[in-house]
Amino acid sequence: MTHLFSPLRIRNIELRNRIAMSPMCQYSAKDGFAGDWHLVHYGTRASGGAGLIIVEATAVWPEGRITPGDLGLWSDDQIPGLQRITGFIQSQGSVAGIQLAHAGRKASCALPWDGGKQLSLSNGGWENVAPSAIPFSPGERTPGMADSICIERIISGFREAAERALMAGFRVAEIHSAHGYLLQEFLSPLSNKRTDEYGGSFENRIRLLLEVTEAIRTVWPEDYPLFVRISSTEWTDGGWTPEESVRLAPLLHQAGADLIDCSSGGNIHNAKVPVRPGYQVPFAEMIRNTGIMTAAVGMITEALQAEEIIASGRADLVLFGRELLRNPYFPLQAARELGADTSWPIQYLRAR
Ligand code: FNR
Repeated sequence: MTHLFSPLRIRNIELRNRIAMSPMCQYSAKDGFAGDWHLVHYGTRASGGAGLIIVEATAVWPEGRITPGDLGLWSDDQIPGLQRITGFIQSQGSVAGIQLAHAGRKASCALPWDGGKQLSLSNGGWENVAPSAIPFSPGERTPGMADSICIERIISGFREAAERALMAGFRVAEIHSAHGYLLQEFLSPLSNKRTDEYGGSFENRIRLLLEVTEAIRTVWPEDYPLFVRISSTEWTDGGWTPEESVRLAPLLHQAGADLIDCSSGGNIHNAKVPVRPGYQVPFAEMIRNTGIMTAAVGMITEALQAEEIIASGRADLVLFGRELLRNPYFPLQAARELGADTSWPIQYLRAR
């Protein structure tokens, strides 16, 4: 038995292997609704053998979308389109997860293939909210500072979206608190200059994320896993540090999170990120040493590389992003390469 293809049990959910699809926006929703693209895209990765599919950043409020093409779960009407996807994922022996998100000051952008720049209010854009009135990069609109009513609305938005995700058939929920989106903006002393109980000290900056985690846990079943994706470091002097991530992890665990998905960066527009194979794995290892499960992600593209990460106890799960865009059947091929036994779709057995 290889380590990568050993099952992973989290609460009462079992993943058939340690390969998960990292959440990746498809920018292909209409008014937040999932369509045929999403069904085929996620369905193919499920039949390709991944143990867990984490559906892309899904906005809890319309203004929390990065682009007008983001998925949403702010309305019950958005449930059936996602239900179709979770049903198919499950039929392939995979587990359906979803990332719940609010883009904060990085919301209101054009689709990447339309340039990805911030949309003006006269061109389909909308007002952004953030912990403080500081734009992401020079020249962008200054976001409004979230007041206490807005903070309540954010928390209830995450809670209600989680309830809808449950109705849609998801078994894993992930809170997006990375890459410079709203919840990470609160964590970072560079984007959060508040003087109330949500800013300043470490305890105050992590308050909103803990409140969101606790709120989701009130509606997310005891049996189902809750993940949190964080940017383990901002790669910027004066910003959020790996040491703060290590302090945060046990508090998230206490609040009801089961696994920390260890990404990095995204909150500071000109940060220098030392991207290379496996560059974020040390964060997964560091945080796992606090006693919570972790996922490693980022430039992991090979079966042996992933096997080594799990075998050496550096993470519990490996998330694949772009490799799964290039090759949806990567897990089936990785199993063959490592000599692991894994089930193929019966329709494809003659190609095994
Ligand atoms: C991403 N990424 C991303 N991350 C996230 O937390 N939520 C998201 O919705 C998205 N969207 C997204 C779209 C696309 C097209 C890409 C390529 C990436 C980041 C992604 O999940 C992953 O963390 C990175 O791509 C690094 O992993 P890989 O690609 O090196 O395996």
